[in-house]
Amino acid sequence: MDYLTAPLDETSRAALAATGLRYAVLDNDDAAALEGWIRADFRGFHGKRPSAEVLEEARGSFAGRRNTGVYDDEGATSDPVGTVNTWPAPLTVPGGARVDSWAISSVTVAPTHRRRGIATALLGGELRTAHALGLPLAILTVSESVIYGRWGFGPATWATAWSVDTKRVGWAGGETPGRLSFAEPAEYEETGARVLDRVMASRAGEIGLEPYLAKRLIGPMKGDPDADKLRLVRYDSAEGEPEGFVTYVLKDDPEDDFTRHTVVVNHLAAATPEALRTLWRFLIELDLVAEVKVWTRGVDEPYQSLVNDIRGARVTELQDHLWVRILDVPAALQARTYERDGSLVIDVADDLGLAGDRFRLTVRDGRAEVQATEDTADVSLPVAALGSAYLGHDVVRGLSLAGRIQGDAEALDRLFRTTVPPRLSTWF
Ligand SMILES: CC(C)(COP(=O)(O)OP(=O)(O)OC[C@H]1O[C@@H](n2cnc3c(N)ncnc32)[C@H](O)[C@@H]1OP(=O)(O)O)[C@@H](O)C(=O)NCCC(=O)NCCS
Repeated sequence: MDYLTAPLDETSRAALAATGLRYAVLDNDDAAALEGWIRADFRGFHGKRPSAEVLEEARGSFAGRRNTGVYDDEGATSDPVGTVNTWPAPLTVPGGARVDSWAISSVTVAPTHRRRGIATALLGGELRTAHALGLPLAILTVSESVIYGRWGFGPATWATAWSVDTKRVGWAGGETPGRLSFAEPAEYEETGARVLDRVMASRAGEIGLEPYLAKRLIGPMKGDPDADKLRLVRYDSAEGEPEGFVTYVLKDDPEDDFTRHTVVVNHLAAATPEALRTLWRFLIELDLVAEVKVWTRGVDEPYQSLVNDIRGARVTELQDHLWVRILDVPAALQARTYERDGSLVIDVADDLGLAGDRFRLTVRDGRAEVQATEDTADVSLPVAALGSAYLGHDVVRGLSLAGRIQGDAEALDRLFRTTVPPRLSTWF
């Protein structure tokens, strides 16, 4: 699949041209053009002006992506006024298959050009391109939850942030085997990437990470103000197998109490329960620390079971995280497994005309067969609601209550929901 050279979407090209704007896929070897694009991307997310070394690193990070820009050639700047980039990322689905999905990132529109349909052209263009490439799903993580529903994306995983009061809680998590050691992030990159891949393969909702995305979790990236403070502790099993790591920064107490530092976790990766227990124990037993903060965790993290005072480990945030847009209903539904058998006719509505139709879904021994049908629908729903339900999170009853799923929502829920909820433990 040559996604880097796939042609530009003609519908969006024409729509943008009609408003005097030029739509272009960048040549990643054109350093000046890519740097202009990166500057626009950073500004779009209210970031700092990237330094020369940050630009150089970002060019490397984005070299494997399809970077697309929208240009106002009449304007006073040659940098783009709209950006997006995309690449096929393996999304783990229930049952463990990894399905190439069109990952969409860096969606920005310059505030000077907002609300004139540039994002609409960019998103429509990406979805039609992914569809033409034969990808069954598009995925993204979002800055605001109000943006992407209109293009058929639905929230499919939820993420939690936690605060643990480590002056209050004690360890109650049992044996912590294996070995912990400090490592220099730069020396741990290869091993860390392998550990991350094991973690990402083992849970629905996680994606296979490009080297850049893995590096962000192992750290530090150029320009990171906390680079010198970032610590990495690796976990190796008793047999010497690398199975997890945590990267974190220690922050001073605002009241200057040296016994009350805060540990801000950059990333915690645990490929086995032993790795999770041992790394957690390490974090909550750190001396001169009063609080451990982690985020982008799942909705089922066992942290409260691991401490002797449940209320000392609190969820401080719960929000939508990975958004899924189904582009090919049969391919997507046949890629995952199901915990119960059953048969259901679902009518899927898609305003963009990419995935909508009526399908019979028949699950036998946990595997689905999906075919277009004329039979009466048991359930009717927009493609965004199907995207929400796809990875097994408990969303169907709520969407039904809100009228966004009609018909036998209970039957849909029974088929789609999974015992272990999906999780995505990073941003992209
Ligand atoms: C989000 C963003 C890309 C939208 O770009 P845009 O070109 O202004 O969007 P469009 O003009 O195509 O808007 C399409 C529709 O979405 C709505 N919309 C777009 N952004 C919205 C927002 N942030 N909140 C609510 N509605 C929004 C528009 O009102 C419009 O609705 P309509 O069709 O009913 O009129 C732009 O505001 C931006 O760059 N924001 C900062 C960076 C960011 O958050 N990017 C998203 C990363 S996940």
